[in-house]
Amino acid sequence: MSTRVGILVSGRGSNMVSLIEAEKAGKLGGAEVALVISDVGDALALEKARERGVEAIHIQMEAEKARLTENDEERMIAELDERGVNLVCLAGFMRVLCHRMLPGYTGKMMNIHPSLLPSFPGLEVQRKALEYGVRYSGCTVHFVTEDVDCGPIIIQAVVPILQDDTPDELSARILKQEHRIYPQAVAWYAQGKLRVEGRRVFVEGGYSWEEG
Ligand code: GAR
Repeated sequence: MSTRVGILVSGRGSNMVSLIEAEKAGKLGGAEVALVISDVGDALALEKARERGVEAIHIQMEAEKARLTENDEERMIAELDERGVNLVCLAGFMRVLCHRMLPGYTGKMMNIHPSLLPSFPGLEVQRKALEYGVRYSGCTVHFVTEDVDCGPIIIQAVVPILQDDTPDELSARILKQEHRIYPQAVAWYAQGKLRVEGRRVFVEGGYSWEEG
């Protein structure tokens, strides 16, 4: 079965672009980006997706806080189902899923997070890593489970933290790696190479240090 990807976004969408461009370059393992959904009407991501020929829609959520309502999730599921989406990628989607999407997409939904999980879950994590004084940070692609930022880890990349870094400089260094590892994770998935055992995700054929 071919992999049809739905990407959920809230902002500028640079990770979304990296997935779309990887598909165009034949580097997404045969997966196809079928739909982009934003909870923010004027998110730059919507424009960037359309410019690249990908259908992109805004869904006005009824939830005022991060946690979506059951109805919000139902509406997203309906749109995803209509396009035959069988892999959901969260890419800077600043909402918390807690209803039907979680059981419905177990093992079929990924998220990218700008820290080396399980260190620094949550928000503003680049600043928190700097303030904590860790010497390395990075990014993580993981399967989404009920607990936020806690699911089985598919791939990570490490970046150094330099003494004079600002949160913006560190974010940019991490983002560069995000754009590399997210397409890799989706390609592995689309090629049927991922197997989850408990917390561990095994990649068929293994992976090199450079790949993550
Ligand atoms: C990325 O750094 C992503 O890892 C982060 O938001 C940014 C979105 O940028 N996601 C989270 O913090 C999720 N908890 P983008 O819109 O340019 O891809």
